[in-house]
Amino acid sequence: MGDNVKVGDKVFGKAAGFSTKGALAEYALMDKDRVAVMLECWSFEEASCVSISFDTALAGVRKAQVKAGQNVLVYGASGGVGNYVMQILLAKGAKVTAVCSTRNVAYAKKLGCQQVIDYKTEDFTQLSQRFDVILGINGCQPMAVYQKLLRPDGIFVGVGNSKQASIALVKRIFSKQFTAVAGAFKSADGYLDYAKSLAERGQLTPLIDKVYSVCQVQGAVRYLVKCHAKGKVVIRADF
Ligand SMILES: NC(=O)c1ccc[n+]([C@@H]2O[C@H](COP(=O)([O-])OP(=O)(O)OC[C@H]3O[C@@H](n4cnc5c(N)ncnc54)[C@H](OP(=O)(O)O)[C@@H]3O)[C@@H](O)[C@H]2O)c1
Repeated sequence: MGDNVKVGDKVFGKAAGFSTKGALAEYALMDKDRVAVMLECWSFEEASCVSISFDTALAGVRKAQVKAGQNVLVYGASGGVGNYVMQILLAKGAKVTAVCSTRNVAYAKKLGCQQVIDYKTEDFTQLSQRFDVILGINGCQPMAVYQKLLRPDGIFVGVGNSKQASIALVKRIFSKQFTAVAGAFKSADGYLDYAKSLAERGQLTPLIDKVYSVCQVQGAVRYLVKCHAKGKVVIRADF
């Protein structure tokens, strides 16, 4: 037990890393620097969404050193990582262009994205606009597409997808415009407190697609893998 939490606190955080075994269990072991007291206004389901994907999203935005007013494109914007990338960018005052499918366009617009491209009906690769920063989340596009859409001094960060991260890091050998963060064992400094501060200011809302009982784990994973989840899929520990 760390100084940051005491017995009886409602907590949230990340049960992943070298010394932990995951969270699909009645009891979970968590490193003390990866756990914090959750906000009173959050349900356990909401708090559970603000962990690995938020951490990864924050690491990506920090890597890109995004500043207020910059034009930032987010590809794969509506998923578990992408929705937090959008919310963090908007909180920083960036002008966000989100790329997602038709059913998620309204969500991205409501968040406050300046421009939303529906990849089902529009070809974002044909945009004439050039971006200061591109955050690629899902690894669905080749680096050449992102290269074309970057300003000469722009930066691409691959966020989350490990295959895409490898490709971006190889490309970095030839161009410093490319880099990546993957869902790493090392957490972004202070990410839990940062999430809470954004939420307290009304700049972060956990996005839950579906909640499953722990008895339905297989269905939850199947849905996550096959159905383009919007935000997070939650498994309730109702043993
Ligand atoms: N989620 C986490 O907690 C987490 C944490 C660390 C790392 N990662 C890794 O980070 C990456 C991103 O994860 P994620 O959970 O955000 O979601 P993801 O499953 O990789 O997909 C993100 C979004 O991309 C869109 N998409 C899917 N297929 C597409 C396609 N063919 N063309 C264009 N868009 C497509 C979907 O949105 P539409 O429905 O709008 O198409 C989907 O919601 C993954 O590689 C994951 O393993 C995830």
